[in-house]
Amino acid sequence: MAKEPVRVLVTGAAGQIGYALVPMIARGVMLGADQPVILHMLDIPPASEALNGVKMELVDAAFPLLKGVVATTDAVEACTGVNIAVMVGGFPRKEGMERKDVMSKNVSIYKAQASALEKHAAANCKVLVVANPANTNALILKEFAPSISEKNITCLTRLDHNRALGQISERLNVPVSEVKNVIIWGNHSSTQYPDVNHATVKTPSGEKPVRQLVNDDAWLNAEFITTVQQRGAAIIKARKLSSALSAASSACDHIRDWVLGTPEGTWVSMGVYSDGSYNVPAGLIYSFPVTCRNGEWQIVQGLQIDGFSRKKLDSTAEELTEEKALAYSCLS
Ligand code: NAD
Ligand code: LMR
Repeated sequence: MAKEPVRVLVTGAAGQIGYALVPMIARGVMLGADQPVILHMLDIPPASEALNGVKMELVDAAFPLLKGVVATTDAVEACTGVNIAVMVGGFPRKEGMERKDVMSKNVSIYKAQASALEKHAAANCKVLVVANPANTNALILKEFAPSISEKNITCLTRLDHNRALGQISERLNVPVSEVKNVIIWGNHSSTQYPDVNHATVKTPSGEKPVRQLVNDDAWLNAEFITTVQQRGAAIIKARKLSSALSAASSACDHIRDWVLGTPEGTWVSMGVYSDGSYNVPAGLIYSFPVTCRNGEWQIVQGLQIDGFSRKKLDSTAEELTEEKALAYSCLS
């Protein structure tokens, strides 16, 4: 029997990530090749013509799984009945703007959209925040949508996770599919800590630690980390635009694994509400290693954290604590 369609909201759908993401969702990349979807696309009035153009292209592409498209500039209409919300819309940093100005704009957007989601989304709606500052936007959304479970509000650090897998794959000249269990700790920013201490590679003679195969701690503890931390900036420098196809693909990975589960023995990185695990302050949206089963994520427990890693986990937590204070100061 055919499955009921799932309603997926994409905010900022007329933007670059939106343009890459909506066809992936309509093709089944996010929820599976047997899962019909209805796309809800939200953008702001200045982008409404472009948004309508995206809708026209979705119709023209005749995606078999796509059972409907709602394209609107009305947040209530966009949020009504959605099962999954991918929050890509936001205010970009413009020349001459201070960090606080960008934060202030985005915090107001996420506060307003939190209310629309809380009142109008389907029960148990899963939320993924992509727009920067992703962790703090997600935290604001959580605070202003108190009836949505904290387990259902997450932010995207899967792109950073995938970037780390990609760097190891290139360095070792192995398929990226054979590398697993890197971790992104903390903020989706240049203070994030890409950690390979538990990562492995599948080889013909079994699974081997990444550290053993790379056999170059100097590279792993310095250049590898900064390359992943700075990759977003490197893409902007090269494209004059921020990452879009990799962000869209990683957003699909995040939701797919959350809904359908992570493979046995594999974890992924997700920005989730901290419960104090690994002595990360509770009450931040912080990226942890997680496994997913039955539509729920669990933080992987019991990993050994050495002194080098401890400092890095703490410094990205400090940045998030400061961002949280800044966000609150913008609201008062
Ligand atoms: P973009 O500027 O091309 O698109 C953003 C869209 O959001 C625009 O169409 C804009 O009109 C819309 N928008 C603005 N305010 C809105 C609102 N209140 N409601 C709905 N829509 C609104 O930007 P992009 O390249 O698609 O990037 C989107 C965001 O994702 C940025 O904040 C970017 O920094 C972030 N990003 C995050 C990651 C990550 O890994 N977390 C990766 C790449 C980009
Ligand atoms: C990325 O990681 O590619 C983006 O978050 C960069 C940005 O600032 O949009």
